[in-house]
Amino acid sequence: MARYVVATTGDIPVGTNKVVTVRGREIAVFNVKGAFYAFLNKCPHEGARLCHGAVVGLVRSDEPGTFEYTRQGEILRCPWHGWEFDIRTGQSWVDPENTWVKNYPASIERGGKLVEGPYKAEVFPVSVEEDYVVLEV
Ligand code: FES
Repeated sequence: MARYVVATTGDIPVGTNKVVTVRGREIAVFNVKGAFYAFLNKCPHEGARLCHGAVVGLVRSDEPGTFEYTRQGEILRCPWHGWEFDIRTGQSWVDPENTWVKNYPASIERGGKLVEGPYKAEVFPVSVEEDYVVLEV
């Protein structure tokens, strides 16, 4: 599996997403509370672009008359028919056993590490003392 740099962390603020195309696949990258998750930007139901869906939470209830709103910002609701998916895993809440969105591993890497090439020039310490440049060779 090849690796691709698709954005800076600043390009995708918390609670938003960015759509990128990698090897012909349109992929939506979401920032959920500072963690990044990526999945195919196509709903498995009828193909809506999931990047336009609402990011919501889950409402849980153990008995009539009581409910709890949990996991705010972790669930994506499809913009066409409202199917809901766990952004962290791509799993559907409609039919968890058989329906999910293809997801891709996403990670944060330091920029300097990514641009570091395989070759290294010989370097010498340099310092400035009283207006003179001094090299240590
Ligand atoms: S296209 Fe997504 S729920 Fe129908």
